[in-house]
Amino acid sequence: MKTLIIVSSTYLGNTMKVAKAMAHELKATIKSPKEVALSDIPSYDLIGLGSGINFASHDKEIITLVEELSIANKKIFIFSTRCRPILGSYHKKLKSLIAQKEGILLGEFSCVGFDRTGPWVGMNGYNKNRPNSKDLFKSMLFAMQIRKKAHPLSGFKKTYSSASTYEGLPLRSDGVKNVVGNIVLLNTSICIACGRCTKSCPMSVFTIKHNANTPLPVGEANCIMCGKCEKECPTDAIFINETFGNGLRILFRESSCDKLQKAYWRK
Ligand SMILES: Cc1cc2nc3c(=O)[nH]c(=O)nc-3n(C[C@H](O)[C@H](O)[C@H](O)COP(=O)(O)O)c2cc1C
Repeated sequence: MKTLIIVSSTYLGNTMKVAKAMAHELKATIKSPKEVALSDIPSYDLIGLGSGINFASHDKEIITLVEELSIANKKIFIFSTRCRPILGSYHKKLKSLIAQKEGILLGEFSCVGFDRTGPWVGMNGYNKNRPNSKDLFKSMLFAMQIRKKAHPLSGFKKTYSSASTYEGLPLRSDGVKNVVGNIVLLNTSICIACGRCTKSCPMSVFTIKHNANTPLPVGEANCIMCGKCEKECPTDAIFINETFGNGLRILFRESSCDKLQKAYWRK
């Protein structure tokens, strides 16, 4: 998923730290508002917009840029750092603008950041050492959730039921995407058979079957949902169906038999 994070972090670089934690998880490019050309936007699948909170809203550079951008139907997430303990309505201006321009807001994140302005000068600054490692960990977790929400196969299983099978796996189709699997969904229509999923999976879930051109998740019952294949896939052809039931499946499988261990050692 081609991701662009646009960040204005003009005061102390607090929001840039958050942006970098998110960018690492999303393999995203980071740009300042000034570096963004209007023609950049169509080539990205997901856009992050973040800044320090300056006078109760996102920084004016972000707001001005978004006013100019064409973001209709674009998947977007927003974030900020601020001094005040509670976020309140600080994101309202940017959220309204995104709604007005028909962007699809997938989520928002905010944490506190060090501030040594106004009343805080007297105590040599407030929120010392923030954002800290805990804040950056939360930023990374937020980015993980956004990646799942933005994935082209998110919700696919719920929308389409399996009408047939392919190499023993359930097959769902919307006419464009042909998706096999129940736990590990693989869009065979765009899989380029690069083999990265096979290499990265610790559980040997993927196998190239005799008649198939692409690796298939035939061992999906052993998938522990580590997400490595999903992250590695260059065409976003793989989606792990992260349900509570699938978590329980692993728990029972692990406690009741040694199949998981065997699959792990097989590699
Ligand atoms: C000009 C200016 C205005 C600010 N206004 C607010 C504000 O309205 N509310 C708030 O909670 N923090 C406010 N802050 C604190 C910043 O939001 C906070 O320090 C933030 O982490 C800065 O992020 P940055 O270093 O990425 O620019 C303000 C800081 C500056 C410099």
